[in-house]
Amino acid sequence: MRSSSSSSSSSSSSSSSARGPSLAVLMVAAVAMCCSAILVALPSTSAMNVTYDSRALLLDGQRRLLIAGCIHYPRSTPEMWPELFARAKANGLDVIQTYLFWDVNQPTPGEFVMTDRFDYVRFIKLAQQAGLMVNFRIGPYVCAEWNYGGFPAWLRQISGIVFRDNDKPWLDVVGPYITKTVQVLKDNKLLAADGGPVILLQIENEYGNIEDSYAGGPAYVQWCGQLAASLNAGAQWIMCQQDDAPANTIATCNGFYCDNYVPHKGQPMMWTENWPGWFQTWGQPSPHRPAQDVAFAAARFYAKGGTYMSYYMYHGGTNFGRTAGGPGITTSYDYDVALDEYGMPSEPKYSHLGSLHAVLHANEHIIMSMNVPAPISLGKNLEAHVFNSSSGCVAFLSNIDSSVDAEVQFNGRTFELPAWSVSILHNCAFAIYNTAAVSAPLNARRMTPLVVHEDAVSDAADHRRSLSKGEGQERVGAFSTFASYAETIGRRAEEAVYFTSPQEQINTTNDTTDYLWYTTTYNSASATSQVLSISNVNDVVYVYVNRQFVTMSWSGSVNKAVPLMAGTNVIDVLSTTFGLQNYGTFLEQVTRGIQGTVKLGSTDLTQNGWWHQVGLLGEELGIFLPQNASNVPWATPATTNRGLTWYRSSFDLPQSSQAPLALDMTGMGKGFVWVNGHNLGRYWPSRIADSMACDDCDYRGAYDDSRCRQGCNIPSQRYYHVPREWLQPTNNLIVMLEEIGGNPALISLVEREEDISCGAVGEDYPADDLSVVLGCGLHQTIRRVEFASFGTPVGTCRQFSLGSCNAANSTAIVESLCLGRQACHVPVAINHFGDPCPDTTKRLFVQVSCA
Ligand SMILES: *[C@@H]1O[C@H](CO)[C@@H](O)[C@H](O)[C@H]1NC(C)=O
Ligand SMILES: *[C@@H]1O[C@H](CO)[C@@H](O)[C@H](O)[C@H]1NC(C)=O
Ligand SMILES: *[C@@H]1O[C@H](CO)[C@@H](O)[C@H](O)[C@H]1NC(C)=O
Ligand SMILES: *[C@@H]1O[C@H](CO)[C@@H](O)[C@H](O)[C@H]1NC(C)=O
Ligand SMILES: *[C@@H]1O[C@H](CO)[C@@H](O)[C@H](O)[C@H]1NC(C)=O
Repeated sequence: MRSSSSSSSSSSSSSSSARGPSLAVLMVAAVAMCCSAILVALPSTSAMNVTYDSRALLLDGQRRLLIAGCIHYPRSTPEMWPELFARAKANGLDVIQTYLFWDVNQPTPGEFVMTDRFDYVRFIKLAQQAGLMVNFRIGPYVCAEWNYGGFPAWLRQISGIVFRDNDKPWLDVVGPYITKTVQVLKDNKLLAADGGPVILLQIENEYGNIEDSYAGGPAYVQWCGQLAASLNAGAQWIMCQQDDAPANTIATCNGFYCDNYVPHKGQPMMWTENWPGWFQTWGQPSPHRPAQDVAFAAARFYAKGGTYMSYYMYHGGTNFGRTAGGPGITTSYDYDVALDEYGMPSEPKYSHLGSLHAVLHANEHIIMSMNVPAPISLGKNLEAHVFNSSSGCVAFLSNIDSSVDAEVQFNGRTFELPAWSVSILHNCAFAIYNTAAVSAPLNARRMTPLVVHEDAVSDAADHRRSLSKGEGQERVGAFSTFASYAETIGRRAEEAVYFTSPQEQINTTNDTTDYLWYTTTYNSASATSQVLSISNVNDVVYVYVNRQFVTMSWSGSVNKAVPLMAGTNVIDVLSTTFGLQNYGTFLEQVTRGIQGTVKLGSTDLTQNGWWHQVGLLGEELGIFLPQNASNVPWATPATTNRGLTWYRSSFDLPQSSQAPLALDMTGMGKGFVWVNGHNLGRYWPSRIADSMACDDCDYRGAYDDSRCRQGCNIPSQRYYHVPREWLQPTNNLIVMLEEIGGNPALISLVEREEDISCGAVGEDYPADDLSVVLGCGLHQTIRRVEFASFGTPVGTCRQFSLGSCNAANSTAIVESLCLGRQACHVPVAINHFGDPCPDTTKRLFVQVSCA
């Protein structure tokens, strides 16, 4: 979307018209744009020509500055997609990027699945309806912290196959798959040349990182280029992290920063993955990348010539079912990005980046009208990129020092440049945006209980009443009494298969389940105790002797004294995977299960004869499905704190807002949870995040994912997203499979509130148009001003308090500007509030509630 505002570049007056649109005006315009776009932007059906030159991607011959964001279709529900796209569009995105997930779309060689969350055709069409273009990344490999990097496990059964090499069996299966996929795009008219939204296609993914390990690597890359060319797809092909990308594909960059990326000759500067956050693994605190640094990286990239950047991720979503990669990626794929796991704006990141997008798009016609200017030095670690053409003038002033703030002279004016920041100057004269100055709202959300154990209902209702100050919805529901069912330990006779030694797990299960039992027997002369040692077993294992639980391990080995009785002892080892490896070389050789030696004392049991039982009985019977839940005898009251136990209950959904829902799995150990037959993913709240991995967070200096971690010493994941559309008003079935032992009475269904918005901006922020921007959900309005102070207020969102200086009419002014509106901006200026304390630097803190 082009901006029509182009004020004269030669004007030097400081009247408000010469200053051009303020940031707040741009932002509110962007919010308003979302909804009108849905109404008016009917999908274009005319063909679009996608080309490029050394400066930019060209759409229908026009150089573009494109902002993209990654949303993976299987990580949210189709019901969520329109809202995600509307928020992306409102936030200034032009393009949605997704991978293709081979394993879910072709689960067996002859089966193509395109339903529900796996329906990428519908996903792409909905993006187009929202006025967005699409970058479709086909792979075949995707990494993506996705199970096995997106490879279906059946590929392992192809004789002699070497994944991602110039290897005939590999090319023979990948070629037809990619060809078929492009045909699906053609048949549905999704490609730009056919009037569809897909402007960019990607083949392979980050192959350059590992290519050296493959003798046929360079030939495979050329084959990818030839295949792409042969498909006449009517969109531009790209390859990321690929130094030797064939000439018909654009080579692109991935990373936390790509402003130093050197494009291939004749190609534009493209950044397929700007990582605004990072993924989480079990036992680690959650990663966090400050919004200031994400904005800094993005602004630097466009200042230095970028034409296309995509946030990886924009909405991370959820690793439902068994889709998490590994080993050990959490079920939440929140990624600390602009839209949180639930699809809600994550503030201040969403709005701070949205402001940047608005400024970039308002100046796109200037920035893209010329070649990239050589930087002008303004001092040590200080530089200006000045885009000055007949279309207008815009300047990027950068301070790339990681600790020293600076004051610079530019174009006859003085500008404050905090360390590690970029200011963007409208008309090359007015700082309209600074990457370090976060004036965006902080939405501080809480999880409030909605359905709890019957004994906890009145406490939970009191709690809700206290939070809503009597104005909210206080109905709280109860789970019906939990029932339990003990899973069968070990092999189930006739179905098990026998081998002399333990077999590799993925080949044995075809990755249809996390679970594989290994069973053997041992004759002991007397009742005694011996050390059982398994040298190599993954990922998490449970050892039972004579059907009694003995030990659990996730360290890759077992070493534990086990009790034996005189005579025959049965040893059952339950090996469980938790996400197959998604990154690295030679993934076809990845092994799980018992791989090393098994010993009992000094006796080697490795060749002792082993039964292999694939999966659990409850899985085989499908007792998590509503129609099959009664296939086993459930017992009440439920047995708690016992391993390998199934639990079931049902609940009605109390009338409440449409806020997103989650299960708080507190009290449970590790396992899976289903609601109405939908697998929400693996839970493991008993896995506590490393107590040492958190530190004070400074946005300045080059980020890496070990910095700014949050949530040490608490469960690495406590809440598990329950999409509302998977629930019904009454009689919802919840089933849990607990591996370690837990107490289902302690779990609850919680509601993720979106009820307040906060903003905090100081007069000393390095921009000219200062304002506090507040915003509620798309279908909400600002109901009450809970705190407003222009002066010297202190504290953080939900805990603001007055300082010694306060303008008496602060609340009245904010009320007049904000009440009843979806979003508002409040100028931070003494000509508005008066000056309650001259000679003191003042700030404006505001907290509003939404309804
Ligand atoms: C898995 O099975 C395939 C096909 O039989 C075989 O080629 C491969 O070596 C097996 N992998 C492992 C780790 O056993
Ligand atoms: C932009 O170009 C105009 C015309 O050449 C010139 O007068 C002006 O000083 C330039 N502005 C900057 C900031 O370089
Ligand atoms: C795994 O796949 C192979 C080859 O298709 C098949 O022979 C075997 O029965 C499968 N095993 C399971 C447990 O599905
Ligand atoms: C559910 O039960 C029906 C019969 O009651 C059976 O045909 C079906 O296979 C079961 N589903 C699963 C997943 O086991
Ligand atoms: C707020 O109060 C100050 C000081 O009394 C006054 O100068 C200012 O005009 C007031 N602002 C509004 C919008 O009423």
